[in-house]
Amino acid sequence: MSLTNPSNGAMPAPLAPAHTKVTMPALSEMKRQGKPISALTAYDYSSARLVDEAGIDLLLVGDSLAMVVLGLDNTLAVTVDEMLHHARAVRRAVRRALVVVDMPFGSYHSSVAEGVANAVRFVKESGAEAVKIEGPRVELVRALVDAEIPVVGHLGLTPQSIQRTVETVQRLRADARALARAGAGALVLEGVPREVAEEITAELPIPTIGIGAGPGCDGQILVFHDLLNLTFAPAAKFVRRYADVGSLIRSAIESYRVDVEQHAFPSDAESYHLPESARKELDNGFGAEDAIVNRDAWEEFSTEPKPF
Ligand code: KIV
Repeated sequence: MSLTNPSNGAMPAPLAPAHTKVTMPALSEMKRQGKPISALTAYDYSSARLVDEAGIDLLLVGDSLAMVVLGLDNTLAVTVDEMLHHARAVRRAVRRALVVVDMPFGSYHSSVAEGVANAVRFVKESGAEAVKIEGPRVELVRALVDAEIPVVGHLGLTPQSIQRTVETVQRLRADARALARAGAGALVLEGVPREVAEEITAELPIPTIGIGAGPGCDGQILVFHDLLNLTFAPAAKFVRRYADVGSLIRSAIESYRVDVEQHAFPSDAESYHLPESARKELDNGFGAEDAIVNRDAWEEFSTEPKPF
């Protein structure tokens, strides 16, 4: 394991204690106070730790991991077990942010009972503090709230549906209202004209968190890899790249490769050294028996010609 360092132990620096843990009611309070909610996705320990330590309020283990982490074309194939695996790593890293886990496609689509059973798994097996479900699944939201599982709803408009403007917008507003009434604690609005997102935000008692929904939402969310340019595709209109981490990583790895090829890595300072006393003992013949053992071992395990 690359972090192994016998001189100071193999453990990463301990997590700082949470100052104030973010909860779902705390997000509603932020809305009441007009305080913007920051949200970001993360999928593993190191990224989640950075996100949490940067003070982000809501951390989503999004099913977007299917594309940005697993290299799939879309989110359909990602499984409950895969989401759990990532959610557990994230949860271990987070002290302050509210950890929300996406329920993947197929995990709540055949029945409400199945949806509740899978949501219980996310809470019990990964430490999720809320689950996110897509679409106007009002009955499921009600059942989850009855089971004491906080829920984030997620509604959006595809570019095609925006063509049928009036009807679609009315539907979206009705769905948003219904989810809030059913007990959703927050609502993600994705790819929604800013005017519509503003209206919904003003109308709902729960916070809205926008992605491609303009500045009028109560909060904003982006995908970690989009924000840092770790994707391998052009950014969508709503993405702002805050850093070009992809180029930074590529250039660091190229430098490492060149150093290896030119015998410039590792240096003497990056090597372990034999203590002087051991060196002397070995020089005085202490190593002779070892050498014989090694010669025998070589014969046993290798077909290569002996180098001694
Ligand atoms: O999976 C995800 O990353 C999401 C965001 C787009 C909100 O659902």
